Amino acid sequence: MRKEIFFIIVLLSITLQGVAAQARPKTWTEGLGESFSSVFDNFNYEYFINKRNLTSDNYDEKRAALIKEANEDYFTFDVPELTEKEQRANDIIQDLREQVVQGDHSPLLLPYYEGKKQISGSNLHQAIRKMPKGAHLHLHPSAAYPLDLMIQLTYKDDAYYNIKENRLSTFPNKAAVEPGFHKCNFLRKNWKFGGTFDSFLRNKILLTEDEMKSQESSEVWKGFQAKFGVIGDLFQTPENIRAGLMEICKRALNDGVYIVEFRKSLSGNFTKKLENYQYVQREMKKIDPAFEIALIVAVGKNKEAKIKSQLAVYNHVRKTYPFVTGFDLVGEEDALPSIYSFKDLILDAMNQDDDEDEPTENDFNLFFHAGETTDRYNENLYDAILLGTKRIGHGFGILLHPGLIDKVIEEDIGIEICPISNLVLAYTLDMRWHPIRTLMNRGVSVAISSDDPTFFDYDNLSLDFTYGIIAWQLDLKDLKQLALNSIKESSIHEDLKTKVYAKFYKEWENFIDTINVSA
Ligand SMILES: *[C@@H]1O[C@H](CO)[C@@H](O)[C@H](O)[C@H]1NC(C)=O
Ligand SMILES: *[C@@H]1O[C@H](CO)[C@@H](O)[C@H](O)[C@H]1NC(C)=O
Ligand SMILES: *[C@@H]1O[C@H](CO)[C@@H](O)[C@H](O)[C@H]1NC(C)=O
Ligand SMILES: [Zn+2]
Repeated sequence: MRKEIFFIIVLLSITLQGVAAQARPKTWTEGLGESFSSVFDNFNYEYFINKRNLTSDNYDEKRAALIKEANEDYFTFDVPELTEKEQRANDIIQDLREQVVQGDHSPLLLPYYEGKKQISGSNLHQAIRKMPKGAHLHLHPSAAYPLDLMIQLTYKDDAYYNIKENRLSTFPNKAAVEPGFHKCNFLRKNWKFGGTFDSFLRNKILLTEDEMKSQESSEVWKGFQAKFGVIGDLFQTPENIRAGLMEICKRALNDGVYIVEFRKSLSGNFTKKLENYQYVQREMKKIDPAFEIALIVAVGKNKEAKIKSQLAVYNHVRKTYPFVTGFDLVGEEDALPSIYSFKDLILDAMNQDDDEDEPTENDFNLFFHAGETTDRYNENLYDAILLGTKRIGHGFGILLHPGLIDKVIEEDIGIEICPISNLVLAYTLDMRWHPIRTLMNRGVSVAISSDDPTFFDYDNLSLDFTYGIIAWQLDLKDLKQLALNSIKESSIHEDLKTKVYAKFYKEWENFIDTINVSA
């Protein structure tokens, strides 16, 4: 552009602005009408100009008021202040945390197995193993039978493996062995593919570093989903199912967990399946009278006929088997149909609930997986909440729908947070930014669960807590609230919780003493 033209344009625009300014009212609020003027007449210009009328005398007071206001919903609001002993224990735990963090957060940011090695080997984790944790609300048994037990069960005479299909199975009746299956003990003895058969199996069952290296959830899910196929049929016989469930429960009890809620379908002969849970319930009571189990009937969110029949089974058994407490739809949310697409089946089953009067604990109850996604267009959380879900499994994406956070608080819907699962399945790449931190601040009733620990090579809920302490700077008050929330949100009958709370508070005292003594 030529210099002269530029000059003329600038001159012209200055003149035009002058004309415009003359056309304006004298003060700029005048043009806004009566009501606006009065608002602005009362507007505190001094305050506005001096920002917030801050002086060095009033600053601390105003600051304290802001902090209080911004945090008054924090989820530990009803936990009493820490006692002196608890305060000391908290200091010790924070020191142990610092030993793991060491100035940076490297163990959290390393590839999963490397980081887990450091975290599970830490003194912090050893200390947290002694902490009572209340209820484990979100656990899929097929992905939670301890790995060492799985391997041990393949030493039994009825254990077979199909190399081509990568599938373990049991055939108690030799005549029924399907083609392609070989006895595990035979393969073990004649193994020629390098390493041992056991280490081969271990690698097939665990999600490998390679299978989880993608930072795209849908990629990681491909490897993950296949794991259910590998071990699924190993747990068909009552002997194996019982051994598996017992081992989960015993280890849970040893880990400070007093209620375990399983999610599993009841396909096939449901009476036979329920007998296994009854057996476990009975046997665990002998070990600890406070210990409880629950079963939430959980069906893959893809097969309409199966969903329909499992809803019918659930309605059929929930009155006669009080530990069957709810219904759920599971699977990869970003890949499977929505909850909405099955709403009619659910509504039909729900409306068959014949209790007209008082709600009882054996009413039709939903415990939906929902919001295990980072997709803003995924609407499962809306349907889960509208259908009256008692808790939400994961709820990871709820931050994308802040209005739903209010609903969840209003209706006291618990959220089952599964930190390690979210990390491994790549819903978060940095645990420090897990949505739970915002949910705790808003006062949502959150609790910690594992989801599928065996595939991620661990078997203690403690490890999820330890990750949480490192990533979210949890203190002892937070830890206590998380445990208490899990009991409060548990689906077991309210009157069964009395013993659980009593045990929790007793063990909490022991835990505090142990921490203080060991330091
Ligand atoms: C500003 O702060 C001072 C000292 O706290 C107080 O006396 C005064 O009333 C405040 N003024 C306004 C306009 O709030
Ligand atoms: C889990 O707990 C068992 C005891 O029940 C313990 O032997 C094991 O080392 C723990 N695992 C981890 C990863 O801490
Ligand atoms: C289902 O299992 C129960 C208990 O084990 C058994 O009594 C019943 O006969 C079975 N039903 C069928 C159809 O196999
Ligand atoms: Zn799950």
